[in-house]
Amino acid sequence: MKDAQPRAIYLKDYQQPDYWIDTSALTFELGEESTLVTSTLNFHLNDSRQHDTLPPLPLHGQEMELVSVAIDGEVIPADQYQVDKEQLVLQPKSDRFETTIVTRIKPQENTSLEGLYRSSSMYCTQCEAEGFRKITYYLDRPDVMSVFTTTVIADKEKYPVLLSNGNAVDRQDLDNGRHLVTWNDPFKKPAYLFALVAGNLDFIEDKFTTMSGREVTLQIFTESHNITKCDHAMRSLKKSMKWDEDVYGREYDLDIFMIVAVDDFNMGAMENKGLNIFNSSAVLARQDTATDAAFQRIEAIVAHEYFHNWSGNRVTCRDWFQLSLKEGFTVFRDAEFSADMNSRTVKRVEDVNLLRSHQFVEDAGPMAHPIRPDSFIEINNFYTLTVYEKGAEVVRMIHNIVGKDGFRKGTDLYFDRHDGQAVTTEDFVTAMEDANGVDLTQFKRWYSQAGTPVLDVTDDYDEEKQEYRLTIRQSCPATPGQKTKLPFHIPVEVGLLDGEGEPMPVTSEGKTTLILDLKDEEQTFVFTGMDERPLPSLLRGFSAPVRLNYDYSREELIFLMSNDEDGFNRWDSCQRLAIDVLLELVAAVQEGRELVVDESLINAYRQVLSDTSLDKAMVAEMLNLPSETYLAEQMDVIDVDAIHRAREFVKQQVAVGLQDQLLATYQRLNIEKLYRPEAEDIAERVLKNTCMAYLVELDDVVGVELAKSQYAAATNMTDTMAALNCLIHATHESAAPIVGKALAEFAEKWIGDNNVMDMWFAAQAGSPRTGKLEKIKELMEHKAFDKKNPNKMRSVVSVFCGRNLVNFHDLSGSGYEFLADEVIRVDTLNPQLAARLINPMTRWKRYDEKRRELMQKALKRIQSHDLSADIFEVVSKSLA
Ligand code: TRP
Ligand code: ZN
Repeated sequence: MKDAQPRAIYLKDYQQPDYWIDTSALTFELGEESTLVTSTLNFHLNDSRQHDTLPPLPLHGQEMELVSVAIDGEVIPADQYQVDKEQLVLQPKSDRFETTIVTRIKPQENTSLEGLYRSSSMYCTQCEAEGFRKITYYLDRPDVMSVFTTTVIADKEKYPVLLSNGNAVDRQDLDNGRHLVTWNDPFKKPAYLFALVAGNLDFIEDKFTTMSGREVTLQIFTESHNITKCDHAMRSLKKSMKWDEDVYGREYDLDIFMIVAVDDFNMGAMENKGLNIFNSSAVLARQDTATDAAFQRIEAIVAHEYFHNWSGNRVTCRDWFQLSLKEGFTVFRDAEFSADMNSRTVKRVEDVNLLRSHQFVEDAGPMAHPIRPDSFIEINNFYTLTVYEKGAEVVRMIHNIVGKDGFRKGTDLYFDRHDGQAVTTEDFVTAMEDANGVDLTQFKRWYSQAGTPVLDVTDDYDEEKQEYRLTIRQSCPATPGQKTKLPFHIPVEVGLLDGEGEPMPVTSEGKTTLILDLKDEEQTFVFTGMDERPLPSLLRGFSAPVRLNYDYSREELIFLMSNDEDGFNRWDSCQRLAIDVLLELVAAVQEGRELVVDESLINAYRQVLSDTSLDKAMVAEMLNLPSETYLAEQMDVIDVDAIHRAREFVKQQVAVGLQDQLLATYQRLNIEKLYRPEAEDIAERVLKNTCMAYLVELDDVVGVELAKSQYAAATNMTDTMAALNCLIHATHESAAPIVGKALAEFAEKWIGDNNVMDMWFAAQAGSPRTGKLEKIKELMEHKAFDKKNPNKMRSVVSVFCGRNLVNFHDLSGSGYEFLADEVIRVDTLNPQLAARLINPMTRWKRYDEKRRELMQKALKRIQSHDLSADIFEVVSKSLA
């Protein structure tokens, strides 16, 4: 360990700071050697503290050189303050005072990508969660909100563009070819929302007129070679601004809104006030460089960051335990936006897929935590699927409990009551309760209890009484630090189908769907006037983030697939059927039995393919077999080889069984068309490419020929990547010589485009056939690879370890040793990235004994090094 062992901090210990900061004036002098930061802060004592004994003022600060400190204009000698590696402690002499602190930092040596750092030719910042303390000494906590004025000084030729939050209020040319720009942000904000950018950047500009008629300037900045890839992000931004006005009544509040794309970024994007900074992969798109999936991801992330202006910035978090206050709510908002812009059911399926195949795993593992954690060692480890995605599900449940209009009343009250404040998830729920006159006391357990609840559902039908009874039992597995759980309040949406597949009325008003409020450990819901035994459609729309068990027969699942009025459950029935069939085959592989795919699955798929009432994207979703990760999640002891064998076998059998129909569908959809990244067109492409992915499973040239000609003819990256992936995965021998050539040509064409090359890397790293460990190491030596860049590391290392399961889990243990080496290396450069890379190894207890031992050994080897708090926390919790 560096220093002492990092300590955990607890929600229950929260206290307000002793001092508040009213204004923060910062001046940055950006130099090639180092950057000088002068900060002038106006403090006042917290009213609830005693004025006669002024408490000391500890300011956070790391990795910087302290040049000078002054209070109220008087320089303080070094013996009147204490400074160590984490803080500067001052002793105030009055309850209102001004500090002037000068520090020197080295952004060009900062590889952690938090604080002020360099990315290619520019300077940029990332301050959430606790990065501001790497810029200057400060009260770096979200409840300290201050008005910022920022002056940036730099060489004018190298850095013509100098940006910070708010409005530009001054521009001047200085001596030695330097210039200065001053920005003022009139809104109080915590330091984590501070941003600065300096570079030689190009931009596109547009305008948006808000609901009250104010004109806002919109700008997107990139390096000049990417300037033609910003239009989609701009369109997405304008749509988001309009949607937030229409749906939430929220208007933008500054005269300018800027987005900057940078290549080196730890996450997707950051909502800094008026100056969002984005991972270039979350902004840049052009039909020839980005896939449909990328277009949709960009639309969602632009919206997400924009929506934070209200849910996060105007109303922010009191402390980092409240992270889900802004993230869960904002993910819910962006999901609803995407649902409105595209297909609602498809969006829901995608989100539930993510939640079930990754968040459920997290919730069942050593890092499991409630959406509002009660302790952490390193806050960066808590930007998780649980806080974001499960957090959004919790907000969605509130939405469903109080209804659409009630929810809007609740958010209006919340924004109104807490504008300009730093608040808690408790405040959010209280606003919902107050606006709607509901009691969410029991519901609040979703904020404090970790783990995925399990619902076991049984039913019986009494023909004489014409009564149908649904009994639901809830339980929740133990999670670290939480042995037992109290029952949750779970909204379970259900419908009932009659023998013809028609919906039966379930309420006295004759509605065919209803939400059951499950609050007890076990509850029975009685439906009367049932003249036949119904088939239940349970947890419609995935109305709660739970696992639901009900003993459906395969016939019943197929029946629901074609008859349920709930589109989500039609898909889910299809998934359940596929999982059932696949797990049976996994067992057959393990027992060395002959593999036979149940005809019912193939027949069901046939029916889906010919069902013209279905959205084409839904057809593709239904034909998509559950991922290896999700199947692994269903097994007590994960057997990656058997899962892979079984899944490959089913793919191939589906292809054999439906060959003609798949080909016909492909050909029907493979028509030349102007490219538009709109839901309908995307749906056609995804279905076409899903059919092609099955056809390359055949031991026949047909699929390879399709992929080859599609690859040659494609005019958009969606079709190009789909074809390339098909060639990589194709079984037929005719593919091999083409793949090598296609990959080489691709790299030659796109070598200058970072985001495109990431796809090229990922396609190879994720393939069981091409992505052997040797290949992975070779890819990492490629001239387009950068071992410090998070996108590159994710596209090779995370794809290999998280998606290419058979190779990562090779019985030699070589995959684990490789990951350990990478984690140890990256931890010294960028702890946040290292902590994300290590993730696949934290679930070591789920595997067979041999692999368990090997993974444990690799984790222990990591543990023996000098570690960041990030990796220390993950490794020690995993091994516990
Ligand atoms: N708040 C960002 C979001 O919208 C998350 C984020 C971006 C972040 N960069 C980060 C969090 C770096 C921690 C560290 O979701
Ligand atoms: Zn966010």
